[in-house]
Amino acid sequence: MNLPNREIKDINNIAVIGAGLMGHGIAQEFACAGYRVCLHDITDDLLHNAREQVGRNLKLLAEHGIIEQTSIPETLQHIQTTTKLSAAVETADYVVEAVTENLPLKQQIFEKLDNLCQLHTILASNTTALMPSQIGLNTKRTDKILNTHYFNPPYLIPLVELIRSSNTSDETVSVTFDLLTAIGKTPAIIEKEALGFVGPRLQAALIREAFAIVEQGIASAETVDLVVRNSFGRRLSVAGPFEVFELAGWDLVLAAFEELYKDLNSSHDINPLLQEMVDSGKLGVKSGEGFYQWTDERQQTLRDKMSQALIHAMKEDE
Ligand SMILES: NC(=O)c1ccc[n+]([C@@H]2O[C@H](COP(=O)([O-])OP(=O)(O)OC[C@H]3O[C@@H](n4cnc5c(N)ncnc54)[C@H](O)[C@@H]3O)[C@@H](O)[C@H]2O)c1
Repeated sequence: MNLPNREIKDINNIAVIGAGLMGHGIAQEFACAGYRVCLHDITDDLLHNAREQVGRNLKLLAEHGIIEQTSIPETLQHIQTTTKLSAAVETADYVVEAVTENLPLKQQIFEKLDNLCQLHTILASNTTALMPSQIGLNTKRTDKILNTHYFNPPYLIPLVELIRSSNTSDETVSVTFDLLTAIGKTPAIIEKEALGFVGPRLQAALIREAFAIVEQGIASAETVDLVVRNSFGRRLSVAGPFEVFELAGWDLVLAAFEELYKDLNSSHDINPLLQEMVDSGKLGVKSGEGFYQWTDERQQTLRDKMSQALIHAMKEDE
């Protein structure tokens, strides 16, 4: 069936599936921009916690003058919650899926969404690494499926990667681009789908080498963090890698990397140290131990520091 061309003005109701770390923040972003949002997860407790967390996030933004304190009750009113998937999506014009990173689960949810949603509804996944063509495999609307990859925390990081499959229509891409822009995000269109798009691919390359450095005894994890934080990490917040190296010149880069590249980690296998950390339950904050010992106070201090820096960057952008 041919549907009339859709534009951003036709998007009124948003549904967000999965109310965890990312889902609640994505729902918040749409609600802040005045959209009606229905947030869905599998238990009432999870949904209650998500609403509470949105309230805390909004309070933080108000404390820093990014939103008006008086807008908080109205924003919260824009977010409805339900444990019933059909109720969450039946009137949705646009759905963002943010459930656990698991391909069969996402495929199953997209198949259900395909059956439950209106014909015009666009379905976007917030997957970190999977491709929209894989996620939408069992649906009949592959032209209306794409990824919108937000970064954590989605209400403090402006960029959203927009990844289309070869089946995604130009209309789906343009409505999504306009919608993201309208809610204050900075969409980056990724031209060709690939596992991990741009951001996660680059981060994966960095952490692969970081593990290799620690595993080979070149430096400790603490030293790696110290170096990144206080050197090129500072530059990266104002200039991308191509900009940074164009300041130096590609001839110098070529000379420096010719030997170095032979020594870098290029393994297709998971680093044995990473495997060992997971096998021994050293998961980081969630188990209280990783390379560091994580007390509640220590992790809160780091989270606060990151929030403050991200809020500062947001204000600089204004
Ligand atoms: N955490 C990050 O930094 C980050 C960044 C970008 C993208 N992502 C991606 O976002 C997605 C969500 O990640 P997260 O960190 O928010 O995870 P999370 O574990 O915090 O949240 C996932 C939520 O999905 C819910 N869920 C699981 N199965 C469900 C189902 N069948 N129906 C409805 N809800 C269900 C869970 O109950 C949970 O609340 C993943 O695909 C992840 O890769 C995560």
